[in-house]
Amino acid sequence: MQAVLDYLKQNQKRFLAEFFEYLRFPSVSAQSKHNKDLVACAQWLANHCQQIGLEAKIHGTAGHPILVAKTPRVKSKTKRPHFMVYGHYDVQPPEPLDLWKTPPFEPRIDGRNLFARGSTDNKGQNFAHLKAVEAYLKTGTPLPCDLTFVIEGEEEVGSKSLSGFLTRHRAELACDAVIISDTGMPSPKHPALTYALRGIIAFEITLRGPARDLHSGIFGGAVENPAMALARLLAKVHDADGRITIPGFYDGIEPLSKLERAQAARYPLKDADLNKLLGTPKLFGERDFTATEQRSARPTFEINGLTSGYQGEGSKTIVPSWARAKITCRLVPHQSPAKIRKTVLAYLKKICPPTVKLEINAGHGAEAYLVSPTGPQAQAALRALKKAFNAEPILMREGGSIPIVNEFKKILGADSLLLGLGLPDDNAHSPNEKFNLDCFENGQRMSAYLWQELK
Ligand code: BES
Ligand code: ZN
Repeated sequence: MQAVLDYLKQNQKRFLAEFFEYLRFPSVSAQSKHNKDLVACAQWLANHCQQIGLEAKIHGTAGHPILVAKTPRVKSKTKRPHFMVYGHYDVQPPEPLDLWKTPPFEPRIDGRNLFARGSTDNKGQNFAHLKAVEAYLKTGTPLPCDLTFVIEGEEEVGSKSLSGFLTRHRAELACDAVIISDTGMPSPKHPALTYALRGIIAFEITLRGPARDLHSGIFGGAVENPAMALARLLAKVHDADGRITIPGFYDGIEPLSKLERAQAARYPLKDADLNKLLGTPKLFGERDFTATEQRSARPTFEINGLTSGYQGEGSKTIVPSWARAKITCRLVPHQSPAKIRKTVLAYLKKICPPTVKLEINAGHGAEAYLVSPTGPQAQAALRALKKAFNAEPILMREGGSIPIVNEFKKILGADSLLLGLGLPDDNAHSPNEKFNLDCFENGQRMSAYLWQELK
């Protein structure tokens, strides 16, 4: 083990140079103009995996390619444990570009932070695991288990191709658990094991009014303005405290136990810190819950994008022909994505005025995830976190979603161990995304320890 740790220590400079190469691919899965960049990124990753001693293969899909890389299988009389390491090489769109201090795909280091789109979400986190395994392979240190890396290119757009892939490759991917570093930790000194993620439903609604944009002086007043109608419609979804007013939305949700509330209260980033970090004039949300609870254990209804009318310079006096909102709801355990989708859309249809036509475009959906943090694998993960970060790890729920974890359970029967390395101020999905280099290094060590602890 010492050889592995020494190897990691001695090679950080080279790791960073390689990490820069990985980050330079603009692997934006949501934008078709980048399709070739995703293929090139997967190809680079496959070559890199081969260089470090893994057997790597790229699998084409109807969407973006999936990379599978395996440690050389060791013959053994007893059954060796097998773990999957899951991650994604696709990244969120970098827009708005003018808010980046330096270009999103030209990595830059400032102190202990590395800035680039995809640095924390998720290239840096999956690269940390690859470097740990490289350390084993290059120092000839025997790995106590077999590992298979599955790094996909569609996580940020709902992992459409991966679940079919899991079904088709069920036998070779069968494993004892899936290890995922694609979540967060409260600070570089607070490592964390995440035991719950929120689910999600996504959809778009368009309200159509007049057949074309109209002169607002000639026609305004006699026709419904679709942007106004959309504003009224969406305003009816929340009460003043952000509680969702859609009948049935909260049905079946279990109250948080005392124990869980106590755990959430230990989360080191308090409400006031959060307010400061996010630059909000004042926090918002349901009165009976703390911000930590609101953003991890309560469901939401969010407008992600709102478009209508003239967006250019100066003024333009029109009644727009249409208005559109991109919406996602985050879900918690016991909310069914299909049922919530039906409930929400039925409500919007019901309250939509007859002066506009409502069009609905359905998007992806996934259930929430919850796993007990008391089992032997979770305990092994906690020991690895503690050794690597030299601090007591905390247990937490996270508000983000990793839809494929449900398929890992359903198709492969495997639980996911969520060992996130991202920080609250990493700007995931925002301009100036970064990754903390202490998290990167300790993450490599965590991975190295993990294989020892899990065996
Ligand atoms: N890394 C995130 C998920 C995440 C972030 C979980 C922080 C917990 C804490 C992942 O890349 C992501 O952004 N997922 C999407 C999924 C969606 C597109 C279906 C998300 O949560 O918005
Ligand atoms: Zn993401």
